[in-house]
Amino acid sequence: MTDSIERVLFTEEQVAARIAEVGTEISEKYRGRDVKLIGVLKGSIFFLTALARAITIPVKIDFLAISSFGGASKSASRGMVRIAKDLDEPIEDEDVLLVEDIVDTGLTTRYLLQTLAGRGPRSLGICTLLDRTVRRIVQVPVDFRCFEIPDRFVVGCGLDHKQLYRNLPFIAVLKPGTEESLATSASRKSIP
Ligand code: IMP
Ligand code: MG
Repeated sequence: MTDSIERVLFTEEQVAARIAEVGTEISEKYRGRDVKLIGVLKGSIFFLTALARAITIPVKIDFLAISSFGGASKSASRGMVRIAKDLDEPIEDEDVLLVEDIVDTGLTTRYLLQTLAGRGPRSLGICTLLDRTVRRIVQVPVDFRCFEIPDRFVVGCGLDHKQLYRNLPFIAVLKPGTEESLATSASRKSIP
């Protein structure tokens, strides 16, 4: 599997150290309260479990799953996402932190923020492992981020290429030819 890796962007040690720092930041910001971490399946599960362990205040966990629809079609729904598995519990009056693997164009995150905001949480924040601001199409307020990354497709720590590589303990760039074309995935998307 590591044959397709061009270079490691962040080592296992760097990832763990940064998650520990962000866990401390979150514990300080929400001190005296509980925080509910909402993971977006499947990419965020590795990050979410490490983050939850790094947080020292009481934590609740829930998950949702999304699926893209519209795909490459020319329909009005092109590039939009929908909730394929909803949360198990309401979030009304809770301090909610949406936990993402990566915020790229921002379209997925914006959709989720709008959906969750409508459910009356006490507060709603975003925490992401990776942030690729250079590809942003819509602005979203990222409250906590571990790493900013360049304009290359990455895998590891939950991020996949065709469902593989999620279990790599580091963040890596794939060799040209094996990586997903970011231009292609961008062109599939439009602003909903
Ligand atoms: P956005 O809606 O463009 O912000 O897309 C976010 C989603 O696209 C992430 O949750 C990932 O599932 C996927 N994604 C974006 N960039 C990458 C990458 O470099 N590697 C793996 N998945 C990615
Ligand atoms: Mg993915």
